[in-house]
Amino acid sequence: MKNKILVTGGAGYIGSHTCIALHEAGYDIVVYDNLSNSSREAIDRLSILIGQTVEFIEGDIRDSELLREVFASHKFFGVIHFAGLKAVGESVAKPLLYYNNNVSGTITLLEVMAEYNIKNIVFSSSATVYGDPESLPIDESSKRSCTNPYGQSKLTVEHILEDLAVSDDSWNLIALRYFNPVGAHPSGQIGEDPNDIPNNLMPYISQVAVGKLDKLSIFGNDYPTVDGTGVRDFIHVTDLAQGHVSALNYLNKQTRPNEGGTAKKNSVGFLPINLGTGKGTSVLELVSAFSDISGQSIPYQFAERRAGDIASCYASADKAKTLLGWQAELSIADMCRNTWRWQSMNPNGYNVS
Ligand code: NAD
Ligand code: WQD
Repeated sequence: MKNKILVTGGAGYIGSHTCIALHEAGYDIVVYDNLSNSSREAIDRLSILIGQTVEFIEGDIRDSELLREVFASHKFFGVIHFAGLKAVGESVAKPLLYYNNNVSGTITLLEVMAEYNIKNIVFSSSATVYGDPESLPIDESSKRSCTNPYGQSKLTVEHILEDLAVSDDSWNLIALRYFNPVGAHPSGQIGEDPNDIPNNLMPYISQVAVGKLDKLSIFGNDYPTVDGTGVRDFIHVTDLAQGHVSALNYLNKQTRPNEGGTAKKNSVGFLPINLGTGKGTSVLELVSAFSDISGQSIPYQFAERRAGDIASCYASADKAKTLLGWQAELSIADMCRNTWRWQSMNPNGYNVS
């Protein structure tokens, strides 16, 4: 029998790509999303890409009654929990919204999972939990500290998962700490679709390249980096998606009794794992690579540093390799190529009307 996975936030950017990878790896999926930052069009395209109608439930993770109905009518192996709000600036303006959605929402989900005795979860955490790192590359034992409500909401959920693991060793809780996800499915059919003017670098660059925005502002050119601009660990979203499949496969291996049911199951407890490439790329290097691949000029100007930004951030990706057998495969050129394909085929994202 195929393992069935509940994918909260599965209509979103990373969730939709992960649904494809899960389907290709032989998992059944049920998507649960309130469409607060995504659209039915994404679900429709997902269905076309995987060649069958995606089972989709429009719902909020804070709605315990609806979650109960969903858990009562499916036998899940586990949950991949993407659902959450992710805009750092908005979280500073609306902290209660972020804590309510990301923290209370996760507590509600965990409570209902416990009621139905489903105790395998892969949670979308973020490199943001490391704050301004003391050393590079950043490994999973590095100190955690956050300076904004979005990051704080991720760190709080990590603490909750840790406490849960201590309280009951039948929970298996993986927190995947993503570095900077970019890129799009190579078909050009799904990708990142920011609501307003993008906050993040790659969608901003691609909207300049396609002519929707005039000019990129590069926030700071006096950082202690290779060329003075910020350095990040950009990771292709399909590599990231594959990381989730590897995490589930790991849970499957650890939590199932051996053939014949004789050997004892292992408890995974709380397991934080970085998903990054281990390589840093500067803002200017990314702009130059995108311009080369797309054949478009990307006008830019240097501007003040953005409040809260750090100079450099890149992962140690060793733990993911050792434990999950996963490593990122795709290059910065692949990230630019697939972002550009998505952006140029869908200049207005999923808004096709
Ligand atoms: P996204 O906004 O595209 O996807 C999140 C999805 O969750 C959306 O479809 C949204 O409608 C849904 N959602 C939000 N609140 C919900 C709720 N209360 N109930 C049900 N659905 C809800 O974002 P993404 O980039 O795909 O990010 C996915 C996850 O990964 C998020 O938790 C995010 O914080 C985390 N993350 C993202 C990044 C990044 O740079 N994209 C980096 C690190 C971590
Ligand atoms: C990257 C670099 C900017 C925009 C954010 C969140 C983090 C995580 C990933 C969710 C920086 C520079 C950017 C622009 C620029 N998300 N930049 N001009 O800040 O590393 O991480 O997304 O968990 O929590 O904070 O990503 O893409 O915003 O910025 O110069 O218009 O690009 O200063 O050096 P960041 P980013």
